[in-house]
Amino acid sequence: MQIPTHLQNSLAGQTMQHSAGHLLSTLRTYKDKESKIVLEAVDIQKSFAQTKVLEHINLDLKAGEFVSFLGPSGCGKTTLLRIIAGLEQPDYGRVIKQNIDITQFNTAKRKCGIVFQNYALFPNLTVAENIAFGLHKKHWTTTEQQARVTELLQLIELPDIALKYPNQLSGGQQQRVALARAIAPKPDILLLDEPLSALDALVRLNLRQKIRDIQRQLNLPAIMVTHDQEEALSISDRVAVMNKGIIEQLDTPHNIYYRPQTRFVARFIGTMNFIPAQALDKKRLTIGTEYFINLDQTNFQTGEKVEIAFRPENIKLLPQQDRNLDGLQLPIRIVNMEFLGAKRRLFCELSISLQPQQAPIEIRIDVDHQQLQHLNDVMWMHVATNALHVFDQKGHAKC
Ligand SMILES: Nc1ncnc2c1ncn2[C@@H]1O[C@H](COP(=O)(O)OP(=O)(O)OP(=O)(O)O)[C@@H](O)[C@H]1O
Ligand SMILES: [Mg+2]
Repeated sequence: MQIPTHLQNSLAGQTMQHSAGHLLSTLRTYKDKESKIVLEAVDIQKSFAQTKVLEHINLDLKAGEFVSFLGPSGCGKTTLLRIIAGLEQPDYGRVIKQNIDITQFNTAKRKCGIVFQNYALFPNLTVAENIAFGLHKKHWTTTEQQARVTELLQLIELPDIALKYPNQLSGGQQQRVALARAIAPKPDILLLDEPLSALDALVRLNLRQKIRDIQRQLNLPAIMVTHDQEEALSISDRVAVMNKGIIEQLDTPHNIYYRPQTRFVARFIGTMNFIPAQALDKKRLTIGTEYFINLDQTNFQTGEKVEIAFRPENIKLLPQQDRNLDGLQLPIRIVNMEFLGAKRRLFCELSISLQPQQAPIEIRIDVDHQQLQHLNDVMWMHVATNALHVFDQKGHAKC
């Protein structure tokens, strides 16, 4: 998984040494936080047969905002999007659009433009006819429809394909047409369900930026379902990370990456190392029997079992222990290496005594190529306190 460079650079580069991931969370990618709420889901619940698929879902979408639903397969992303679109009814809860309760409205009345994964264009209609399909004759004259089609073909940068049929277009072109068709009737909200997942990598990369540009240009609030975290983090104002029918965190990409509020988010987004630890008192943790760390902003219960977490790019390697440094220092042994292009990833084992029978803990560390390490080298890893996360046994962030 490749985390967008704008996220990694701010962490791995100069910022990391002095501040920390946590401080960076104050940077907001979504600047207009106070803008008007255009859509709200209030306590949405949904089951299919006896299986709960969505539990107590609450979220809002602001004017002009781009929100992604991100999560593993089967976590309820599409179901939630379909409930917002009016294609599915919730068992409980409400959908509010511009202060009007639309829970009972049919899809047409909700004024949502929808784009699905599989293009869903009519094969027997031309591109122009496909785009004009939702422009009802009584509301749009033929001249208005033609003008709208021309305008949208220009917007999607395919001005010359009006008379072609879907099977004469590439997947990426078809998905652009599907986008134009969704936007044509001037919807209030754009809903996209995995619009890029059927496309190859390069087309995907270009089209996601194109979708974002168009959405911005039209100032059209949008929700996109995806299971691709790079996609979600790179183009969204906010991301709703979903797991088993709940939203674990609804936040800016920066906060999702740097301040995961749950263990699930920490593990699901990017790469995270986890080490078990136990509280000695309110502020101190012990790792194994010989190593300790003080964490000021915490309030542990003595004896409480927790997990310390940190990202590979936040680890510095030291030839030996440095008692003048704050933060976490532990001995490791390099057991494997991988070439990652700009960086190298070291797979290491923690050289600390754990419970008998317990498998060694693997730590992944990203280093520059200038640093020369060798297999079986024994070194010390160091992580600054402000780059550490701690999760309690329920998986909630303690810091
Ligand atoms: N109409 C339905 N009838 C019965 N079960 C359903 C129905 N629609 C969805 N489900 C179930 O609800 C759960 C959530 O499905 P949903 O399609 O919302 O997941 P998703 O997060 O979009 O997954 P994916 O990433 O695979 O598209 C799944 O277990 C799915 O099998
Ligand atoms: Mg889905």
